[in-house]
Amino acid sequence: MLIAIDGPAASGKGTIARRLAAHFGLPHLDTGLLYRATARALLDQGSKLDDVENAVSAARGLALLDFEEDRLRGREMGEAASVVAAIPEVRAALIDMQRAFASRPQGAVLDGRDIGTVIAPKADVKIFVTASPEARAQRRALELRGRGEKVDYPAILDDIRKRDTRDSERADAPLRPADDAKILDTTDLNIEAAFAAALEIVDRAEAAT
Ligand code: DC
Repeated sequence: MLIAIDGPAASGKGTIARRLAAHFGLPHLDTGLLYRATARALLDQGSKLDDVENAVSAARGLALLDFEEDRLRGREMGEAASVVAAIPEVRAALIDMQRAFASRPQGAVLDGRDIGTVIAPKADVKIFVTASPEARAQRRALELRGRGEKVDYPAILDDIRKRDTRDSERADAPLRPADDAKILDTTDLNIEAAFAAALEIVDRAEAAT
């Protein structure tokens, strides 16, 4: 079974994807990490994020080693990832590895922005996870506080809004629900309820096939 989870920053899609993968015993790929690791490679080499040539070689040169998660998950890298993710050549450089992951024989769970629309348009189940910007900013603030980062709520909300605009308005593979995606609004749901709702969507889709 191939499950595609998309949605904006801090919508809960990552946690839902991880939990679904564990529940069904499927491999999981958080595709945001690919863009974050590309951005980190550029920042580490002192390159500008919009240098297309460097960005493409950084994307092509990603190695497992590049996915050490702590720094990748920080606020700075999310912003930087959103900038490199708008470069069509970077997206093209990362497509094959995502599609290869999605075509594993046992199935997979992928989460990102364009899984249901571009990476795996034939996925068995597509869920678009969303929540209000305020709810997402609250969650991000809690998460960052838990990681020991300084928390400035208005700045986080501003980031979330900017990131939504950048991710939704880019020309290539913009953030949007696939026509056949089920929308899951987690604004008023805790993680248990959000996971239960996602599981119900998957179970229904499976029962319908
Ligand atoms: O899911 P995330 O916050 O880790 O993603 C970071 C950025 O990467 C996000 O703002 C846009 C980009 N991204 C993307 O364009 N396509 C994906 N499939 C995943 C992430």
